[in-house]
Amino acid sequence: MGAGNVPVQAHSTKREMHSVLQQQQGPPCLKPSQSMICVYTFLLLVLSRGALGSLQAKQTDFGLKVFSQLVADVVDTNLAFSPYGIANIMAMAQLGSNGSTQWALTAAMGFSMQERGMLRQQRLLQHNLASEDGVEIASGVMVERKISLKKRFRRALAKTFQTHPHQMDFTKPEQAVSIINAWVSDHTAGAIPEFLAAGSLDYETRLVFLNALHFQRLWKVPFDPKLTQERMFHCANGTIVPVHMMRLTNHFSYAEFVTADGVDYYVIEVPYEGSSLSMLLVSPFEPEIPLSALNADLSSQKIQHWRSELRNVRRELAMPRFSLNSEVNLKSALLKIGLGGMFNLASADFTWITSDERLCVSKVLQRVKIEVDERGTKGASATAAVMFSRMAVQEITLDRPFLFLIQHKHTGAVFFMGQFSHPPQ
Ligand SMILES: *[C@@H]1O[C@H](CO)[C@@H](O)[C@H](O)[C@H]1NC(C)=O
Ligand SMILES: *[C@@H]1O[C@H](CO)[C@@H](O)[C@H](O)[C@H]1NC(C)=O
Repeated sequence: MGAGNVPVQAHSTKREMHSVLQQQQGPPCLKPSQSMICVYTFLLLVLSRGALGSLQAKQTDFGLKVFSQLVADVVDTNLAFSPYGIANIMAMAQLGSNGSTQWALTAAMGFSMQERGMLRQQRLLQHNLASEDGVEIASGVMVERKISLKKRFRRALAKTFQTHPHQMDFTKPEQAVSIINAWVSDHTAGAIPEFLAAGSLDYETRLVFLNALHFQRLWKVPFDPKLTQERMFHCANGTIVPVHMMRLTNHFSYAEFVTADGVDYYVIEVPYEGSSLSMLLVSPFEPEIPLSALNADLSSQKIQHWRSELRNVRRELAMPRFSLNSEVNLKSALLKIGLGGMFNLASADFTWITSDERLCVSKVLQRVKIEVDERGTKGASATAAVMFSRMAVQEITLDRPFLFLIQHKHTGAVFFMGQFSHPPQ
């Protein structure tokens, strides 16, 4: 089964839906009003998904682009990242940008918040994600009390991100750090108690955009802890170390692919309870192939393609129990995708935020904590601006580096992703 196969799932779903509708409608000879309603409902479904999908796909693409830049420098380290978090923060920044900064942000992010209907789409997306059980998201804006924000910016923040700016006194930076850390801790159920290090803000700080995400979900089918055993893991650097390998024999959605460079890999989906969220595990068949062969051209379309090819098969899955704790400064990754201008006081243009002072971005930080065990997954992230024919294998053992992504299936938002290159010490 190659990457070139035509995804047929979408069509068959439509066909199934059509036949269900037909069954419900009984005789094919319909009254005109009845058939109109059916057609209309179907169109609406397609349209609302499509509209939400376009902004979300672009935000996901942006997050994935940032991730690719980030891992380019750290090939064999573990990393957990939230594409959703970075896209959210930068969308807020884009709202306040003007001129060349707005142009650069629009080009790098692939969408413009100024476009008609975007604010509404963003609001729907937030709403859609927040209504998911076990998922909490929050956006925050901390602003120096002496700065007056433009009314249009305040209104857009309230409408779109459901947030009202908190006024702060950045002349007392240590106090500001503890207020921000308390906000993050509150919105991540205590998982990230110390987001900002002492000294990370100073009296020149004027505004901090914040995003917090907390996720806790049980697997649809838990792994039996009694089956977890020590097995060997092939680290990215070639060493082999022991790891606690969880095991589950079940039906999984699974597919095999080949990259343009001829690297064979597979994707297996492990669903969470409720089935609206799942973890996708992606790994090359050959242990010596670096993950960079897979994550070079990650995109929302690629993920969609994976999903469309997944087939329900019975497999024995063995994967490490792990927890990762990553802290990254995204500045260099953002510089590499053409966003250097916003880090420079002379060129940055955030005149839609305030006209009191010139503002520019000094750092973009993200901290992610993720714990994967037999029962399920707990994840939290905080982001601040101060994403051939092979024999069928019976056993899927993630005993080599793999990528993981936690995605909200309906909107395509990728809450978390990461590369697991070796068991964390
Ligand atoms: C390879 O990576 C593992 C895990 O980080 C580490 O313990 C080991 O020292 C590394 N070995 C070499 C040769 O770099
Ligand atoms: C945004 O930029 C345009 C063109 O440079 C300028 O005319 C306009 O006044 C700016 N908007 C604000 C709010 O400063």
